[in-house]
Amino acid sequence: MERIGIILLGPPGSGKGTQAKELEKKFGFVHISTGDLLRKAVREGTPVGKIAEKYMREGALVPDDVILKLVNEALDGVDKFVLDGFPRNTSQAEKLDDMMREKSGKITKAILLEVTDDEIVRRLLARRVCPSCGRVYNLITSPPKDDNKCDVCGVQLIRRSDDNEDTIRNRLSVYRNETAPLIDYYERKGILVKIDAEKSPDEVFNAIVRVIGAH
Ligand code: AP5
Repeated sequence: MERIGIILLGPPGSGKGTQAKELEKKFGFVHISTGDLLRKAVREGTPVGKIAEKYMREGALVPDDVILKLVNEALDGVDKFVLDGFPRNTSQAEKLDDMMREKSGKITKAILLEVTDDEIVRRLLARRVCPSCGRVYNLITSPPKDDNKCDVCGVQLIRRSDDNEDTIRNRLSVYRNETAPLIDYYERKGILVKIDAEKSPDEVFNAIVRVIGAH
């Protein structure tokens, strides 16, 4: 059976993780987030985590060899997936093409979530996450019911260490220099779709569903 994947492309805070989780819940896509895999490795103090930590703290890209190994493992045995935060540069995109050839897979769409820089900074400064279950909140648009505690686990929410203004600006600049060239890359392949991601999460989700309607 052919593996089918979609890519969520977009700057930090554009809602890739939010939308990927919905696609997993409602349509059974396996959510592969390189950011989540790396944060888990850092928490567990694995060799990958030790390498990744300093790059992530600065908002720089973790070296490709580390990322490619993680993605290759995550794709094992998975036949319908959504990639969130990968690929992040042209070299990773080319390696993904190789992986798809080896694993009889196909990327059907690269969906670009478009959001302005001001909105990104607003969203990321207000993002809080549950350190226990990973649920993502936003103090402005999707706050927890009870003062800064996870609705599910009841534990105190935290701010990601890279969600401070300096690191956010650096992540945006890395996005522009390294990741934005992928817009052309996937446009040339004829699979790029742009979505206005400044709308509400539900409206963005409905737009994505229209794009991937065939799955
Ligand atoms: P990663 O975790 O991938 O971070 P990112 O790309 O910066 O994206 P974010 O997770 O910050 O945002 P998102 O788009 O998922 O938005 P979210 O849905 O949470 O990477 C972190 C680091 O790991 C990198 O800097 C790098 O060091 C390393 N790394 C990861 N992958 C790598 C790779 N492939 N190669 C090399 N290094 C790699 O939403 C954000 C907030 O907005 C939330 O509070 C949410 O509730 C809210 N929100 C979402 N949608 C909406 C909406 N429509 N309206 C209003 N609010 C919304």
